[in-house]
Amino acid sequence: MAISAHIGELMSGSSFIRKMFETGARLKAEFGDDNVFDFSLGNPNIPPVPEFGRKLNEILSENIPGKHGYMPNAGYPFVREKVAAQVSADQAVSIDKDSIIMTCGAGGGMNAVLKSILNNGDKVIVSAPCFMEYKFYADNHGGVLQIVKPAADLSLDPAAFEAAIDEKTAAVIINSPHNPTGKIYSEDNLRALFDVLKAAERRTGRSIYLICDEPYRKITYDNAVVPAVFPHYKNSIVVTSFSKDLSIPGERIGYAAVNPAADDYKNLINAVILCNRILGYVNAPALMQRAVADLQGMSVDINEYKRKRDMLCDGLADIGYEFEKPVGTFYLFPKAPGGDDMKIVDLLQEERVLVVPGGGFAMPGYFRISYCVDDWVIEGSMPGFRRAFERL
Ligand SMILES: Cc1ncc(COP(=O)(O)O)c(C=O)c1O
Repeated sequence: MAISAHIGELMSGSSFIRKMFETGARLKAEFGDDNVFDFSLGNPNIPPVPEFGRKLNEILSENIPGKHGYMPNAGYPFVREKVAAQVSADQAVSIDKDSIIMTCGAGGGMNAVLKSILNNGDKVIVSAPCFMEYKFYADNHGGVLQIVKPAADLSLDPAAFEAAIDEKTAAVIINSPHNPTGKIYSEDNLRALFDVLKAAERRTGRSIYLICDEPYRKITYDNAVVPAVFPHYKNSIVVTSFSKDLSIPGERIGYAAVNPAADDYKNLINAVILCNRILGYVNAPALMQRAVADLQGMSVDINEYKRKRDMLCDGLADIGYEFEKPVGTFYLFPKAPGGDDMKIVDLLQEERVLVVPGGGFAMPGYFRISYCVDDWVIEGSMPGFRRAFERL
Protein backbone atom coordinates (compact mmCIF):
# COMPACT_ATOMS: atom_id res chain seq x y z
CA MET A 1 0.00 0.00 0.00
CA ALA A 2 1.41 3.40 -0.97
CA ILE A 3 -0.37 5.50 1.62
CA SER A 4 0.22 5.16 5.36
CA ALA A 5 -1.79 2.50 7.15
CA HIS A 6 -3.02 5.10 9.63
CA ILE A 7 -4.33 7.47 6.95
CA GLY A 8 -5.92 4.46 5.24
CA GLU A 9 -7.78 3.77 8.49
CA LEU A 10 -8.89 7.39 8.82
CA MET A 11 -10.12 7.34 5.24
CA SER A 12 -12.23 4.24 5.74
CA GLY A 13 -13.58 5.72 9.01
CA SER A 14 -14.89 8.73 7.11
CA SER A 15 -16.23 6.74 4.18
CA PHE A 16 -19.86 7.54 4.98
CA ILE A 17 -19.18 11.24 4.27
CA ARG A 18 -17.70 10.23 0.92
CA LYS A 19 -20.72 8.05 0.29
CA MET A 20 -23.01 11.00 1.02
CA PHE A 21 -21.16 13.22 -1.43
CA GLU A 22 -21.29 10.50 -4.04
CA THR A 23 -25.04 10.04 -3.55
CA GLY A 24 -25.56 13.81 -3.82
CA ALA A 25 -23.47 14.00 -7.01
CA ARG A 26 -25.32 11.01 -8.50
CA LEU A 27 -28.75 12.50 -7.73
CA LYS A 28 -27.74 15.88 -9.19
CA ALA A 29 -26.40 14.23 -12.35
CA GLU A 30 -29.59 12.18 -12.71
CA PHE A 31 -32.24 14.79 -11.83
CA GLY A 32 -30.42 18.11 -12.35
CA ASP A 33 -29.08 20.50 -9.68
CA ASP A 34 -32.46 22.23 -9.39
CA ASN A 35 -34.23 19.04 -8.44
CA VAL A 36 -32.04 18.04 -5.53
CA PHE A 37 -32.54 19.73 -2.15
CA ASP A 38 -29.08 19.72 -0.68
CA PHE A 39 -28.86 20.60 3.03
CA SER A 40 -25.67 18.69 3.65
CA LEU A 41 -22.95 21.34 3.71
CA GLY A 42 -22.18 24.35 5.92
CA ASN A 43 -21.09 26.40 2.92
CA PRO A 44 -22.70 29.86 3.29
CA ASN A 45 -24.95 30.77 0.36
CA ILE A 46 -25.21 34.50 1.11
CA PRO A 47 -22.61 36.46 -0.90
CA PRO A 48 -19.81 38.11 1.11
CA VAL A 49 -20.45 41.63 2.41
CA PRO A 50 -19.78 44.19 -0.38
CA GLU A 51 -17.14 45.86 1.80
CA PHE A 52 -15.04 42.72 1.44
CA GLY A 53 -14.82 43.04 -2.36
CA ARG A 54 -14.29 46.80 -2.14
CA LYS A 55 -11.49 46.35 0.38
CA LEU A 56 -9.81 43.69 -1.77
CA ASN A 57 -9.90 45.96 -4.83
CA GLU A 58 -8.50 48.81 -2.79
CA ILE A 59 -5.63 46.68 -1.51
CA LEU A 60 -4.87 45.35 -4.99
CA SER A 61 -4.75 48.84 -6.47
CA GLU A 62 -2.66 50.35 -3.68
CA ASN A 63 1.11 50.49 -3.90
CA ILE A 64 2.07 48.64 -0.72
CA PRO A 65 5.71 47.53 -0.54
CA GLY A 66 5.98 43.79 0.17
CA LYS A 67 2.22 43.41 -0.22
CA HIS A 68 2.48 39.72 -1.13
CA GLY A 69 5.53 38.90 0.97
CA TYR A 70 6.06 36.93 4.16
CA MET A 71 5.34 38.78 7.38
CA PRO A 72 5.82 37.82 11.05
CA ASN A 73 4.38 34.30 11.47
CA ALA A 74 1.71 35.60 13.87
CA GLY A 75 0.42 37.94 11.17
CA TYR A 76 0.59 41.67 10.47
CA PRO A 77 0.79 43.66 13.73
CA PHE A 78 -1.73 46.27 12.50
CA VAL A 79 -4.27 43.53 11.70
CA ARG A 80 -3.75 41.81 15.04
CA GLU A 81 -4.35 45.14 16.78
CA LYS A 82 -7.77 45.44 15.14
CA VAL A 83 -8.62 41.83 15.93
CA ALA A 84 -7.53 42.36 19.55
CA ALA A 85 -9.99 45.27 19.88
CA GLN A 86 -12.82 43.00 18.70
CA VAL A 87 -11.81 40.14 21.00
CA SER A 88 -11.57 42.60 23.93
CA ALA A 89 -15.19 43.58 23.27
CA ASP A 90 -16.37 39.96 22.80
CA GLN A 91 -14.53 38.66 25.85
CA ALA A 92 -14.94 41.65 28.20
CA VAL A 93 -11.20 41.58 28.92
CA SER A 94 -8.68 44.03 27.54
CA ILE A 95 -6.17 42.20 25.35
CA ASP A 96 -3.55 43.47 22.94
CA LYS A 97 -2.19 42.26 19.63
CA ASP A 98 0.39 40.01 21.29
CA SER A 99 -2.44 37.63 22.28
CA ILE A 100 -3.57 37.21 18.65
CA ILE A 101 -2.20 34.82 16.02
CA MET A 102 -3.74 35.08 12.55
CA THR A 103 -4.46 31.59 11.17
CA CYS A 104 -5.68 29.72 8.09
CA GLY A 105 -9.29 29.60 9.24
CA ALA A 106 -10.53 28.08 12.48
CA GLY A 107 -9.34 24.67 11.27
CA GLY A 108 -5.77 25.94 10.89
CA GLY A 109 -6.01 27.66 14.28
CA MET A 110 -7.25 24.50 16.03
CA ASN A 111 -4.36 22.53 14.58
CA ALA A 112 -1.76 25.11 15.64
CA VAL A 113 -3.21 25.21 19.18
CA LEU A 114 -3.51 21.43 19.56
CA LYS A 115 0.00 20.86 18.24
CA SER A 116 1.23 23.39 20.80
CA ILE A 117 -0.25 21.66 23.83
CA LEU A 118 -0.58 17.93 23.13
CA ASN A 119 1.88 15.29 24.24
CA ASN A 120 1.58 11.86 22.64
CA GLY A 121 -1.49 10.04 23.96
CA ASP A 122 -3.03 13.15 25.57
CA LYS A 123 -6.79 13.44 25.66
CA VAL A 124 -8.96 16.18 24.21
CA ILE A 125 -12.54 16.10 25.48
CA VAL A 126 -15.65 17.39 23.73
CA SER A 127 -19.37 16.92 24.23
CA ALA A 128 -21.55 15.14 21.69
CA PRO A 129 -22.92 16.12 19.29
CA CYS A 130 -19.77 17.61 17.77
CA PHE A 131 -17.98 18.69 14.62
CA MET A 132 -16.13 15.48 13.80
CA GLU A 133 -13.09 17.13 12.27
CA TYR A 134 -11.92 17.56 15.89
CA LYS A 135 -11.11 13.85 15.93
CA PHE A 136 -8.69 14.31 13.03
CA TYR A 137 -7.25 17.54 14.43
CA ALA A 138 -6.43 15.82 17.77
CA ASP A 139 -5.07 12.75 15.99
CA ASN A 140 -2.83 14.94 13.79
CA HIS A 141 -0.83 15.84 16.88
CA GLY A 142 -0.75 12.54 18.78
CA GLY A 143 -3.93 13.28 20.75
CA VAL A 144 -7.08 11.26 21.24
CA LEU A 145 -10.53 12.82 21.10
CA GLN A 146 -12.90 11.60 23.81
CA ILE A 147 -16.54 12.42 23.20
CA VAL A 148 -18.79 12.63 26.28
CA LYS A 149 -22.57 12.51 26.46
CA PRO A 150 -24.51 15.77 26.59
CA ALA A 151 -27.38 16.65 28.94
CA ALA A 152 -30.88 15.64 27.80
CA ASP A 153 -31.39 19.03 26.10
CA LEU A 154 -28.02 18.63 24.32
CA SER A 155 -26.35 21.30 26.48
CA LEU A 156 -23.06 20.49 28.25
CA ASP A 157 -23.19 17.91 31.04
CA PRO A 158 -20.48 19.03 33.50
CA ALA A 159 -20.63 15.69 35.34
CA ALA A 160 -19.77 13.87 32.11
CA PHE A 161 -16.65 16.04 31.74
CA GLU A 162 -15.77 15.46 35.38
CA ALA A 163 -15.92 11.70 34.91
CA ALA A 164 -13.83 11.82 31.71
CA ILE A 165 -10.99 14.15 32.78
CA ASP A 166 -7.83 12.51 34.04
CA GLU A 167 -4.06 13.16 34.14
CA LYS A 168 -3.88 12.65 30.36
CA THR A 169 -6.35 15.45 29.65
CA ALA A 170 -4.74 18.44 27.97
CA ALA A 171 -7.75 20.23 26.54
CA VAL A 172 -11.51 20.55 26.35
CA ILE A 173 -13.20 21.93 23.25
CA ILE A 174 -16.49 23.80 23.31
CA ASN A 175 -18.25 25.23 20.27
CA SER A 176 -20.91 27.89 20.83
CA PRO A 177 -22.99 28.82 18.85
CA HIS A 178 -22.98 25.15 18.15
CA ASN A 179 -22.72 23.04 15.05
CA PRO A 180 -24.98 21.02 14.66
CA THR A 181 -27.61 22.07 17.25
CA GLY A 182 -27.60 25.86 16.80
CA LYS A 183 -27.49 26.17 20.62
CA ILE A 184 -25.64 28.80 22.60
CA TYR A 185 -24.44 27.43 25.94
CA SER A 186 -25.88 29.51 28.79
CA GLU A 187 -23.75 31.32 31.35
CA ASP A 188 -24.91 28.88 34.05
CA ASN A 189 -24.05 25.87 31.93
CA LEU A 190 -20.58 27.30 31.19
CA ARG A 191 -19.93 28.24 34.82
CA ALA A 192 -20.66 24.68 35.88
CA LEU A 193 -18.13 23.47 33.31
CA PHE A 194 -15.52 26.02 34.49
CA ASP A 195 -15.96 24.75 38.08
CA VAL A 196 -15.37 21.20 36.92
CA LEU A 197 -12.28 22.22 34.95
CA LYS A 198 -10.79 24.22 37.84
CA ALA A 199 -11.32 21.33 40.25
CA ALA A 200 -9.83 18.92 37.69
CA GLU A 201 -6.74 21.14 37.30
CA ARG A 202 -6.23 21.00 41.07
CA ARG A 203 -6.80 17.26 41.12
CA THR A 204 -4.54 16.36 38.17
CA GLY A 205 -1.95 19.09 38.73
CA ARG A 206 -1.95 20.08 35.09
CA SER A 207 -3.33 22.98 33.07
CA ILE A 208 -6.42 22.05 31.09
CA TYR A 209 -6.84 24.42 28.18
CA LEU A 210 -10.37 25.25 27.13
CA ILE A 211 -10.50 25.80 23.37
CA CYS A 212 -13.54 27.86 22.38
CA ASP A 213 -14.27 27.23 18.72
CA GLU A 214 -16.41 30.21 17.73
CA PRO A 215 -16.81 30.63 13.97
CA TYR A 216 -20.57 31.26 14.44
CA ARG A 217 -20.27 33.92 17.18
CA LYS A 218 -21.86 36.59 15.00
CA ILE A 219 -24.62 34.35 13.61
CA THR A 220 -27.19 34.62 16.39
CA TYR A 221 -30.93 35.33 16.49
CA ASP A 222 -33.58 36.71 18.82
CA ASN A 223 -31.05 38.91 20.71
CA ALA A 224 -29.19 35.83 21.93
CA VAL A 225 -25.79 36.63 23.44
CA VAL A 226 -22.70 34.41 23.39
CA PRO A 227 -21.23 34.60 26.92
CA ALA A 228 -17.59 35.63 27.38
CA VAL A 229 -15.22 32.96 28.66
CA PHE A 230 -11.93 34.79 29.32
CA PRO A 231 -13.02 36.51 32.58
CA HIS A 232 -14.14 33.21 34.11
CA TYR A 233 -11.61 30.59 33.03
CA LYS A 234 -8.00 31.67 32.63
CA ASN A 235 -6.71 28.75 30.59
CA SER A 236 -8.87 29.61 27.62
CA ILE A 237 -8.15 30.11 23.94
CA VAL A 238 -10.64 31.39 21.36
CA VAL A 239 -10.23 29.96 17.88
CA THR A 240 -12.38 31.37 15.13
CA SER A 241 -12.58 32.54 11.54
CA PHE A 242 -14.34 34.83 9.12
CA SER A 243 -15.51 31.80 7.08
CA LYS A 244 -19.13 31.87 8.15
CA ASP A 245 -19.91 35.45 9.21
CA LEU A 246 -18.34 37.05 6.13
CA SER A 247 -19.17 34.08 3.83
CA ILE A 248 -15.55 33.52 2.79
CA PRO A 249 -14.73 29.93 3.87
CA GLY A 250 -12.54 29.27 0.85
CA GLU A 251 -10.24 32.16 1.71
CA ARG A 252 -8.93 30.47 4.88
CA ILE A 253 -8.64 33.37 7.28
CA GLY A 254 -9.18 33.29 11.04
CA TYR A 255 -7.30 33.70 14.29
CA ALA A 256 -6.48 32.28 17.69
CA ALA A 257 -6.72 34.55 20.75
CA VAL A 258 -4.97 33.40 23.92
CA ASN A 259 -6.24 34.57 27.31
CA PRO A 260 -3.42 36.74 28.76
CA ALA A 261 -4.11 35.16 32.16
CA ALA A 262 -3.39 31.63 30.84
CA ASP A 263 -0.73 29.46 32.51
CA ASP A 264 2.59 29.67 30.70
CA TYR A 265 1.11 32.46 28.54
CA LYS A 266 4.30 33.66 26.80
CA ASN A 267 5.44 30.13 25.97
CA LEU A 268 1.98 29.21 24.80
CA ILE A 269 1.80 32.18 22.42
CA ASN A 270 5.24 31.45 21.04
CA ALA A 271 4.34 27.78 20.63
CA VAL A 272 1.19 28.60 18.64
CA ILE A 273 3.18 30.98 16.43
CA LEU A 274 5.82 28.30 15.84
CA CYS A 275 3.19 25.64 15.09
CA ASN A 276 1.39 27.95 12.67
CA ARG A 277 4.72 28.14 10.84
CA ILE A 278 5.88 24.54 10.97
CA LEU A 279 2.52 23.03 10.10
CA GLY A 280 3.32 24.52 6.72
CA TYR A 281 0.85 27.39 6.89
CA VAL A 282 3.83 29.77 7.56
CA ASN A 283 1.38 32.62 8.02
CA ALA A 284 -2.29 33.37 7.32
CA PRO A 285 -2.83 34.66 3.73
CA ALA A 286 -1.47 38.21 3.42
CA LEU A 287 -4.24 39.65 1.23
CA MET A 288 -6.95 38.18 3.44
CA GLN A 289 -5.42 39.57 6.62
CA ARG A 290 -5.47 43.05 5.10
CA ALA A 291 -8.99 42.54 3.74
CA VAL A 292 -10.58 41.56 7.07
CA ALA A 293 -8.66 44.09 9.19
CA ASP A 294 -11.41 46.71 8.96
CA LEU A 295 -14.34 44.28 8.80
CA GLN A 296 -14.15 43.15 12.42
CA GLY A 297 -17.66 43.99 13.59
CA MET A 298 -19.24 43.06 10.27
CA SER A 299 -21.23 40.10 9.06
CA VAL A 300 -23.53 39.18 6.21
CA ASP A 301 -27.19 40.01 6.82
CA ILE A 302 -28.07 37.63 9.67
CA ASN A 303 -31.78 38.41 9.15
CA GLU A 304 -31.53 36.42 5.93
CA TYR A 305 -30.51 33.31 7.87
CA LYS A 306 -33.17 34.06 10.49
CA ARG A 307 -35.81 34.19 7.77
CA LYS A 308 -34.62 30.85 6.40
CA ARG A 309 -34.56 29.36 9.90
CA ASP A 310 -38.16 30.43 10.47
CA MET A 311 -39.31 29.16 7.10
CA LEU A 312 -37.70 25.77 7.74
CA CYS A 313 -38.80 25.48 11.38
CA ASP A 314 -42.40 26.44 10.60
CA GLY A 315 -42.60 23.93 7.75
CA LEU A 316 -41.05 21.05 9.70
CA ALA A 317 -43.02 21.72 12.89
CA ASP A 318 -46.20 21.67 10.83
CA ILE A 319 -45.29 18.21 9.51
CA GLY A 320 -44.54 16.95 13.03
CA TYR A 321 -40.73 16.94 13.24
CA GLU A 322 -39.41 17.60 16.76
CA PHE A 323 -36.53 19.99 17.37
CA GLU A 324 -35.30 22.85 19.51
CA LYS A 325 -35.40 26.10 17.56
CA PRO A 326 -31.79 27.17 16.97
CA VAL A 327 -30.67 30.57 18.33
CA GLY A 328 -27.45 30.64 16.34
CA THR A 329 -25.55 29.17 13.33
CA PHE A 330 -27.39 28.01 10.23
CA TYR A 331 -28.06 24.45 11.37
CA LEU A 332 -31.14 22.66 12.65
CA PHE A 333 -30.84 19.32 14.47
CA PRO A 334 -34.22 17.57 14.61
CA LYS A 335 -34.89 14.22 16.26
CA ALA A 336 -35.06 11.42 13.71
CA PRO A 337 -38.73 10.40 13.57
CA GLY A 338 -38.80 6.80 14.78
CA GLY A 339 -35.34 7.25 16.31
CA ASP A 340 -33.21 5.86 13.47
CA ASP A 341 -31.18 8.64 11.83
CA MET A 342 -29.89 6.44 8.98
CA LYS A 343 -33.45 5.45 8.12
CA ILE A 344 -34.74 9.03 7.85
CA VAL A 345 -31.63 10.08 5.90
CA ASP A 346 -32.24 7.23 3.43
CA LEU A 347 -35.95 8.02 3.09
CA LEU A 348 -35.15 11.70 2.54
CA GLN A 349 -32.57 10.75 -0.10
CA GLU A 350 -35.30 8.90 -1.94
CA GLU A 351 -37.12 12.25 -1.95
CA ARG A 352 -33.90 13.93 -3.21
CA VAL A 353 -33.48 15.75 0.11
CA LEU A 354 -29.91 15.53 1.42
CA VAL A 355 -29.24 15.84 5.16
CA VAL A 356 -26.55 14.46 7.48
CA PRO A 357 -27.23 11.68 10.03
CA GLY A 358 -26.62 12.52 13.69
CA GLY A 359 -24.14 9.63 13.78
CA GLY A 360 -21.85 11.91 11.76
CA PHE A 361 -21.75 14.14 14.86
CA ALA A 362 -21.51 11.27 17.38
CA MET A 363 -25.22 11.70 18.12
CA PRO A 364 -27.35 9.04 16.46
CA GLY A 365 -31.10 9.54 16.67
CA TYR A 366 -30.96 13.05 15.18
CA PHE A 367 -30.11 14.52 11.80
CA ARG A 368 -28.62 17.84 10.68
CA ILE A 369 -30.15 20.25 8.21
CA SER A 370 -27.84 23.01 7.02
CA TYR A 371 -30.08 25.89 5.97
CA CYS A 372 -27.47 28.21 4.40
CA VAL A 373 -29.24 27.47 1.12
CA ASP A 374 -31.43 29.31 -1.38
CA ASP A 375 -35.10 29.70 -0.46
CA TRP A 376 -36.23 27.38 -3.29
CA VAL A 377 -34.32 24.54 -1.63
CA ILE A 378 -36.30 24.97 1.60
CA GLU A 379 -39.63 25.46 -0.18
CA GLY A 380 -39.06 22.61 -2.64
CA SER A 381 -37.98 20.15 0.05
CA MET A 382 -41.16 20.34 2.15
CA PRO A 383 -43.21 17.74 0.24
CA GLY A 384 -40.24 15.35 0.51
CA PHE A 385 -39.87 16.01 4.25
CA ARG A 386 -43.61 15.32 4.63
CA ARG A 387 -43.60 12.08 2.63
CA ALA A 388 -40.53 10.74 4.47
CA PHE A 389 -42.16 11.58 7.84
CA GLU A 390 -45.41 9.90 6.86
CA ARG A 391 -43.62 6.75 5.68
CA LEU A 392 -42.23 6.39 9.21
C1 LIG B 1 -17.78 24.02 14.52
C2 LIG B 1 -16.82 24.33 13.43
N1 LIG B 1 -15.55 24.58 13.75
C3 LIG B 1 -14.64 24.85 12.80
C4 LIG B 1 -14.98 24.89 11.47
C5 LIG B 1 -13.92 25.17 10.46
O1 LIG B 1 -14.03 26.46 10.00
P1 LIG B 1 -12.94 27.13 9.07
O2 LIG B 1 -13.50 27.22 7.71
O3 LIG B 1 -12.73 28.48 9.64
O4 LIG B 1 -11.70 26.31 9.15
C6 LIG B 1 -16.30 24.63 11.09
C7 LIG B 1 -16.69 24.59 9.67
O5 LIG B 1 -17.74 24.14 9.28
C8 LIG B 1 -17.25 24.35 12.10
O6 LIG B 1 -18.54 24.09 11.81
